[in-house]
Amino acid sequence: MPSDMISDIIRKKIIRRFTGEKEINFRNNIPHDDLIATNIQEISKIGLYLHIPFCNRICPYCPYNKEIYSDDTAHKYIKAVIKEVEKYAGLMAGKSISSFYIGGGTPTTLLGKGLEDILDAIYKHFNMECYIHIESHPNHLSNENLYALKALGVKYLSIGIEALQDRHLKMLERPYNTYEVKKIVERAAGKNFECLNIDYIFDLPGQTIAEVEQATYEMIKLGIDQAATYPLFRFPYTRFGKEVTQKRNVVKTMFRRRKFLKVIEDIFYGSGFERSSVWAFTQKGTKKYCSVTVPSYLGLGASGGSYLNDIFYVNTFKVAEYIQSIENESSPIALSVNLSEKAQMAGWLYWRIYETIFRKSDFKQRFNRSFDKEFGIYTKQLKRIGFLNNGRDIVRLTDKGTYWLHAFEDFFSIDYINKLWGTLKTNPWSENVIL
Ligand SMILES: C[S@@+](CC[C@H](N)C(=O)[O-])C[C@H]1O[C@@H](n2cnc3c(N)ncnc32)[C@H](O)[C@@H]1O
Ligand code: SF4
Repeated sequence: MPSDMISDIIRKKIIRRFTGEKEINFRNNIPHDDLIATNIQEISKIGLYLHIPFCNRICPYCPYNKEIYSDDTAHKYIKAVIKEVEKYAGLMAGKSISSFYIGGGTPTTLLGKGLEDILDAIYKHFNMECYIHIESHPNHLSNENLYALKALGVKYLSIGIEALQDRHLKMLERPYNTYEVKKIVERAAGKNFECLNIDYIFDLPGQTIAEVEQATYEMIKLGIDQAATYPLFRFPYTRFGKEVTQKRNVVKTMFRRRKFLKVIEDIFYGSGFERSSVWAFTQKGTKKYCSVTVPSYLGLGASGGSYLNDIFYVNTFKVAEYIQSIENESSPIALSVNLSEKAQMAGWLYWRIYETIFRKSDFKQRFNRSFDKEFGIYTKQLKRIGFLNNGRDIVRLTDKGTYWLHAFEDFFSIDYINKLWGTLKTNPWSENVIL
C-alpha cells in the first residue's frame, strides 16, 4: 500500500479517537448571522485576525494566501474589508476584542496606502482592548515606516528575515542580502517595540550546523526580543514543493531537524531567552509576539478564518472573489464546519500543546469539564516517557516532548493545510473539503 494511503488511514484513526468523528468535513454552508452573533456573545475572550493578501514578489516556498500587489486591487480590497468590518460591528454588539493580529502575505504593502483606513474602521466599530501585532517585510522597514507603524499603535512587530547567510537568501530568492537585513533589524530594534520578532528558516538545502549556530548568535546580537525559527516545510502546491521529485525520508528529516533545533535552543537558553511556543524563543520578561493561538477569533479579509465555539469558517481565498462577494452584498464565507464538543476539546489541546504550556483550569473554564478526566490518560503516559511535567494545574512540555509532539502535530497540520488551502487556492467556492 502506498505510504500516503497508510498516512491517511493513521490520521483518520487518530482523528476518530480524539474527536469521535470519522472525518472533518468542511462544506459550503454559510453560518447564519444570528448563530455567529450568539456564538460571539458566548465567548469571553475573542481575538481579531486581519489578512492582507499582497506581496511585492512571491517566494517559492511560501504556502500563504497572497498575490502580487497592485494599487487598483489593493484599493478595492481595502473598501471591501471596511464593509466586512461594518457588517460584523452589528454582530459584535460591543463585545471587546482582546488580541489583534495582522498577517499575510505582507501587511506592510498597504502601509501609507490604506491600511490606516482599515484600522480606523476597526477602532471605530469594535471595542479594541489590545495592541496590534503585525507581520512585515524587511524591505518595507525604513525609519519613516517604522515610525508610521508605531504611530498606528503597533507594539508587536515581526520581520521575516528567513536567513542570515547570502547563499541561503539567494536560494530562497529574498530581495536583500545579509548585511542589509541585519541593518534593518537593528534599526527596528532601536524603536522600542514591546516585542520585536524575527522569522528565521532552518534545515535549508545544504545548510550546516555551523551556519545555523552562527546565524543564531547573530540574531541575538541584533537586539531582538523573540525569534520564531521554522524548518523549511515543503508544501506540495508551492514551487519548492513541486520541485521535490524524490520522496524524502520522513524519519531522517525529523532527526536532522531535531539536531538543528537543539543547537538553536541551547544558544537561546544560554542567552536569556525562554521557549514561548514550539518554534519560538522569547527574551525572559518580554511579552511574547504571538500569532494564531488565541482560542476564539474572528477573521477578516480573503482567507480570514473564524473560530467561534462550535463553528469554524473561512472566507474565500481569491482576492477578486472576496471583493466581488462583498460588493454584491453576499457572504465571502467559502467553507464552514460544525465541531462537536469532543472535537473542540481536541482542537483546544492541539493549540495548547503548540504553546508548550497550559493550565487545566483554563480547560475547565472553557468546557466545564475536568481536563484529567478527558485527557489524563495521555498526560500520565507522556509524563512517564519524559515528554511533559504534569502538575496539579500547569502542564509544561519538556524540550524533548515539545519537539516530538509537534512533529506529531505536523503530521496533521501540513496535510490539512495542503488539502484546505490547496483546494481553496484553486477553487475559491469549493463545495466541500474533507480532512
Ligand atoms: C507571512 S510571512 C512573513 C512576512 C513577510 N511576508 C515576509 O516574507 O517577510 C510568514 C513567515 O512564515 C515563514 N514561512 C513561510 N513559508 C515557509 C515554509 N515553507 N517553511 C517554513 N517557514 C515558512 C517565513 O519565515 C515567513 O517569514
Ligand atoms: S514569504 Fe512573505 S513575502 Fe514571501 S510570498 Fe510569503 S508572505 Fe509574501
